Amino acid sequence: MRGRRHFLRRLGQTALGLSLGTLVQETAGAVPLPDPDADFWEVVRAQYPVTQERVYLNTGGLGPAPYPVLDAVQRTMMELQRISETGHDRLEDARAPVAAFFGARLEEIAFMRNATEGNSTVAMGLDLRRGDEVIFEAHAHPGGFFPWLARQKSHGLVVKLFEPDPTSAEGNLQRIEDLITPRTRVIQVSHVTAPTGIRFPVPEIAALAHDHDCWFHVDGAQSAGMLPVDLHALGCDSYATSGHKWLGAPHGTGVLYVRQDRIDAVRPTETGAYAGDGAVKLPDQFGYGATARRFEPGTRDAASVVGVAAATAFLDRIGMERIAARGRHLATYLQDGLRALGGLTMLTPELPSLAASITTFKPQRVPFDDLYRFLADQGLRCRIVRERGIDAVRVSTHLFNSEAECDRVIDATRQALDSLSLR
Ligand SMILES: Cc1ncc(COP(=O)(O)O)c(C=O)c1O
Repeated sequence: MRGRRHFLRRLGQTALGLSLGTLVQETAGAVPLPDPDADFWEVVRAQYPVTQERVYLNTGGLGPAPYPVLDAVQRTMMELQRISETGHDRLEDARAPVAAFFGARLEEIAFMRNATEGNSTVAMGLDLRRGDEVIFEAHAHPGGFFPWLARQKSHGLVVKLFEPDPTSAEGNLQRIEDLITPRTRVIQVSHVTAPTGIRFPVPEIAALAHDHDCWFHVDGAQSAGMLPVDLHALGCDSYATSGHKWLGAPHGTGVLYVRQDRIDAVRPTETGAYAGDGAVKLPDQFGYGATARRFEPGTRDAASVVGVAAATAFLDRIGMERIAARGRHLATYLQDGLRALGGLTMLTPELPSLAASITTFKPQRVPFDDLYRFLADQGLRCRIVRERGIDAVRVSTHLFNSEAECDRVIDATRQALDSLSLR
């Protein structure tokens, strides 16, 4: 108790000009992390510079980074600028801890600029022919489906969509299975869907895909940093995610995983320096490196990549199980409060096994965009969901959010339902 108070006091001192990031790095490892209780989560909140002037509830769009991450990025950037070096070694140092965070081998990890780039690397790089079929959910994000539509147009691939089932894991498996034919080559799902936060049964879909000799790709933009992700246990062939959402890594970062024995099946669509096997020679000696590093040609921003490793270290220190439980607890708390208001339709699954840290709901008697604007005017930064005519409001609850913030959403929604329905 004394230790925690001392830690909190020291955090408070940072407002007087000390570097919080450094302080956190100095102290957090030494402070025993208590059970999830208010004090603990206040300490966590204090590690994020994101403004308190509005309530930030859009981690599904863009996640704020904590001080230790920003510190690591700034420090690395200055160090590299001072000596004017690219920092390739820093990039390589970051690969092992990031791989470990995802339950992968370092040879299977490539650093990207976002989830879209990772999704696209796989979708554009697989050897597919006219008439080959790809299946994914109708709620996929454009960052996951654009490349498939592009190849549909340019290569004659056939895109088949299934409507996600928010009520049962088996329902989703069945809907995918119903679309599989002898021409199906690829199955892709979002680990957690962006519009309404449906969590798909990924290991079961992996088994289904592999039973039919299909490539199985997971768009993990909404799962990395929200849920524990063990890629070998998930069983997918490839997985792509953003750094700048639930992971709390710098803007413009992402991670691509390709299972080691499947790397050769993905032809790099962008290639050049650092993608080769070390024996490349003009005019005709050429080979790709053996690892996923081949998907990141050219000079990279080493400081941001160091930030990705710092982000995974930060989350690891708190514990991904605990973070997932916290996000889920807040989502349940919010949903209970919203349900009690009446006049709302909850679009997020009720079943815990299908749910995550996202809450999407729509008002029954007032326009959804009026509700969204009303919340925004009250300083509540949510996200509007127009995709596929879902027409709803999405709230993301992550480790830095609180019950008090959920109460503000509930109260403001009550006011909105009262005042907007009178108009
Ligand atoms: C499921 C999903 N895939 C891809 C993306 C695109 O992410 P990025 O901007 O990192 O490419 C998003 C962004 O919201 C998403 O939710």
